[in-house]
Amino acid sequence: MKPTVTCYLLDVVDLCDKIALVTGGSGGLGCSLARAFARQGYRVVITARNGEKLQAAAKAIGDNAAPVLALPCDIRQKDQVNSLAKEVGARLGTVQVLINNAGIARAVSFLEMPDSLWDDTLRTNLTGAYYCCKVFLPGMTNSGWGRIINIASTTAKVGYSHVSAYASSKHGLLGLTRSLALETARLGVTVNAICPGYIDDERTRENARRMAEKTGKPIEEILALFAGSAPQNRLIQTDEVASLALMLASDKAGGITGQAINVDGGAVMV
Ligand SMILES: NC(=O)c1ccc[n+]([C@@H]2O[C@H](COP(=O)([O-])OP(=O)(O)OC[C@H]3O[C@@H](n4cnc5c(N)ncnc54)[C@H](OP(=O)(O)O)[C@@H]3O)[C@@H](O)[C@H]2O)c1
Repeated sequence: MKPTVTCYLLDVVDLCDKIALVTGGSGGLGCSLARAFARQGYRVVITARNGEKLQAAAKAIGDNAAPVLALPCDIRQKDQVNSLAKEVGARLGTVQVLINNAGIARAVSFLEMPDSLWDDTLRTNLTGAYYCCKVFLPGMTNSGWGRIINIASTTAKVGYSHVSAYASSKHGLLGLTRSLALETARLGVTVNAICPGYIDDERTRENARRMAEKTGKPIEEILALFAGSAPQNRLIQTDEVASLALMLASDKAGGITGQAINVDGGAVMV
């Protein structure tokens, strides 16, 4: 019997030697995604801007999964995304699974938000994902098989106060997901989004620290507030998101496209 991982749909995720690219692979969720795919036999490439952090992440993943290739790239720069594709092509081959995970998030009230934050958020979370789709999709359509998984957020579906740039970028990412799913529907490629709620990771703790400083409340109270915003009253683990990504990347998920699936403890039901 082939080994499988524990995931939402048991027995759908077989060992696989396809090539997967995870953007933002040095971050909390990106690392977990890369590790899950590497453990499943994928040849994994991770990318992010800071080369040192990226190498450290690749080493940490390689220590308890298969080796991953770390190639720095700023996804806001299309020429860098093109160079990344060339490098991956030369060293491994065509990327078959693209996980657009890189993202930035900063909470600030709308009137206090500098225009630069709006621009940078849109350029990273939306235009960066667009560049990656543009550059890596032709390899998928040429071979008649591909998976694009966009890491969105529950803020892609509902508004939240103080994150207008972030929510706008993630709403946009769902528009891209759905439109591209239609254009690729007969080309062997699926395009889906995962919408996590508050994840139990460093970024959430950093956000909680900032809110704690502003409000004078203890950080534990802020984290409890985040957890309490979900009916399950808990934060989401990164490997819960990674399990869903593995399932969406599998052959047996070929009929799932244009979807935006929440992993949020029941917080958002649309
Ligand atoms: N944490 C949560 O609660 C949560 C909830 C819902 C959705 N999400 C989404 O999940 C994804 C991952 O979030 P996370 O919590 O793991 O964040 P994180 O720990 O801050 O990691 C973000 C990653 O993106 C990379 N990155 C940022 N800008 C980039 C750029 N221009 N080019 C290439 N890489 C870039 C960062 O590396 P460099 O800075 O070195 O480039 C880092 O590897 C994001 O899309 C986020 O919106 C997170």
